[in-house]
Amino acid sequence: DWTPDHALDAALEEVRGRAGGERVLLAVSGGVDSSTLALLLARAGVDHTAVFVDHGLLRLGEREEVERALASAGVNLVTVDARERFLAALEGVGDPEAKRKIIGREFVEVFKEQAARLGPFRFLAQGTLYPDVIESAGGTGAANIKSHHNVGGLPAELGFELLEPFRYLFKDEVRELGLLLGLPDTVRLRHPFPGPGLAIRILGPVDEEKLDILRRADDLFISALKDHGLYDEVWQALAVLTPVRSVGVTGDERRYGYVLALRAVTSVDGMTADWARLPHDFLDEVARKIPQRIPEIGRVVYDLTSKPPGTIEWE
Ligand code: XMP
Repeated sequence: DWTPDHALDAALEEVRGRAGGERVLLAVSGGVDSSTLALLLARAGVDHTAVFVDHGLLRLGEREEVERALASAGVNLVTVDARERFLAALEGVGDPEAKRKIIGREFVEVFKEQAARLGPFRFLAQGTLYPDVIESAGGTGAANIKSHHNVGGLPAELGFELLEPFRYLFKDEVRELGLLLGLPDTVRLRHPFPGPGLAIRILGPVDEEKLDILRRADDLFISALKDHGLYDEVWQALAVLTPVRSVGVTGDERRYGYVLALRAVTSVDGMTADWARLPHDFLDEVARKIPQRIPEIGRVVYDLTSKPPGTIEWE
């Protein structure tokens, strides 16, 4: 029978058995898989270095939250501030796939530089889960599947031996291990967040000003969900900053502000999803608060598209 305690013991044993006395590198994104992996390595007493790349596309306070959660649990964490570099590479790029490619490429470059600077390392630890292994069966390997969809995934060409202690686990099982390892709930129960971050939630080209607007709007929406006990009821919730501007009015003043879309979905695995029936009173409160606090936003809409035909993200 599967129990979290046995799974944790098995993972600790594997990591100590294979990588005891060796140096292990890993990339952390702030998501539950890589964070739990970092805590596992720390608990195992393995000589590890966790690299967290701040690409400037994170949410409000996210970097500090990740640093706090990991550093206090004994993870040897190196944060790399690569914000300017990513923003420069993304300048003027509006196509979603082009944005993803640029972010993926820059991520691998930054990670390689850090590996060279901090190395040498024998092992690369990755939070690959069982569904990733299945998806890639007969294909090109788990590391490859991740590399095109997940910025945390790295190409095999880096030349490390892979350590994937979660390869027989499902996400909810990793969440159980995270609980045993003391991962704070803010990280452990967090909604999925795409590797390219807020870049694919700003339709069209990304710049610092738009990132700042979206960061504040996302924070108001997510905080309100938490305050109303709705956060754990949905699989994922997000705000999208559209390039569309519409006319509005405050007092006697006409305003010309951005249209912000809110999206919340229920889902089991993200493959299909249904738009979440959030209470009207809740939506009303959020739709009033956002333009009040963020004058650059003139209008708030709620996305009623399920998946299919829509995807969860807008890009
Ligand atoms: P879609 O939008 O395809 O999203 O319905 C399904 C799930 O995947 C996430 N997503 C991504 N994750 N890199 C990632 O790491 C990406 O490029 C990416 N695109 C979408 C999305 O947030 C949702 O959880």
